[in-house]
Amino acid sequence: MSNTTQATNAALMARRRAAIPRGVGQSHEVFITQGENAEVWDVEGRRYIDFAGGIAVLNTGHRHPEIIAAVKDQLDHYTHTCFQVLAYEPYVELAERINALAPGNFDKKTFFLSSGAEAVENAIKIARAYTKRSGVIAFTSGYHGRTMMTLGLTGKVVPYKVGFGPFPGEIFHAQFPNALHGVSVDDALASVETIFKNDIEASRVAAIIVEPVQGEGGFNVAPFDFLQRLRALCDQHGILLIADEIQTGAGRTGTWFAIEQSGVAPDLITMAKSMAGGFPISAVVGRADVMDAPAPGGLGGTYAGSPLGCAAALAVLRIFEKEQLLQRSQALGQRITRRLQALATKHSVIADVRGLGAMVALELCQNGDAHQPDADLTKRLCAEATKQGLILLSCGTYGNVVRILVPLTASDAIVDEGLDMLEAALATALQA
Ligand SMILES: Cc1ncc(COP(=O)(O)O)c(C=O)c1O
Repeated sequence: MSNTTQATNAALMARRRAAIPRGVGQSHEVFITQGENAEVWDVEGRRYIDFAGGIAVLNTGHRHPEIIAAVKDQLDHYTHTCFQVLAYEPYVELAERINALAPGNFDKKTFFLSSGAEAVENAIKIARAYTKRSGVIAFTSGYHGRTMMTLGLTGKVVPYKVGFGPFPGEIFHAQFPNALHGVSVDDALASVETIFKNDIEASRVAAIIVEPVQGEGGFNVAPFDFLQRLRALCDQHGILLIADEIQTGAGRTGTWFAIEQSGVAPDLITMAKSMAGGFPISAVVGRADVMDAPAPGGLGGTYAGSPLGCAAALAVLRIFEKEQLLQRSQALGQRITRRLQALATKHSVIADVRGLGAMVALELCQNGDAHQPDADLTKRLCAEATKQGLILLSCGTYGNVVRILVPLTASDAIVDEGLDMLEAALATALQA
């Protein structure tokens, strides 16, 4: 039954609570009716600037006209056939385009799925099939999804893993480098070696999976020399390197894939989120010989690589070229970083401003001490921002990092207005 006469956020939240399990969390008690580029409007007619972008899905903004047109056109032809039953050209074209974009001087192949977690699951399947090994190494504070394998890989217990174990075996966690919190690149690499000593011999490890910038984990940027040395370690032991670019990909960091900036070519890359501007499609791209390891029928899925997702993703690629969004990502990143750094000089609670391209975050602490994370202040800041009309998201192992994922298509004026709101929200949150 629709209940539009009672369409307030509070009334809809009450219906939501009664109808939907609490496990599906809710960052903001806001129900939207409209989205346009970097702005959304709620059921009560309030406008918000969206710095969350559906968690890194809207690099091209809400309802980019070219994406909407491409999907409408696709709707007029066919919407579903299941690619493994009846094939269609947009799937093939998209694979060709992504093969050409992925780093590495070797032949590549790509196939499509529906969600990020599904892409990660499949990358692990492919790595195991190719290497005929079972072990997988992931990193502390990493996030790879909510299915059982990806939860096993995820290095953050609360709230993702609580009550859901046991997880698949043969998964081990090494330390992710974090200079602010005393984990050097040497420490991180030594922790991989420790796994080889304590848990599993290197010759049984199929893959190491790493986010070039940790998303949920707090926008921790992997130093380039860490990624380079990880690549060398993988080569030394015949281990595949998987870059999880589900949050960092599709131009968010100033290059199509974040890992390009380190000069490292992973064997496999997972992508999803912004690759189709809000339409559900994900991908695994990788070395052709590795990708061909699973036998026919071993990969795929009913909805995997839907024609609507392919049409949207091809439109996203066109938009990136036309609107030069990689350059925009770099410029936007600098603009946001400059502003947050200026804010940090005024507020000792800002322990760090960091990021890559337009993937920028600030970390909040107590008493000017980076080792005392302030999750309460972070919560107050996000809540206050919502009141001001800004949608912000937190992240980080201790819930004390505020991340900015504003559409790359947002104008400077909108970004500045959002940053003004952030600044005002921080001032109010600090008084509480
Ligand atoms: C790095 C990374 N990997 C995997 C995932 C899982 O993607 P999905 O939520 O589409 O399953 C996410 C989602 O936030 C992510 O950021």
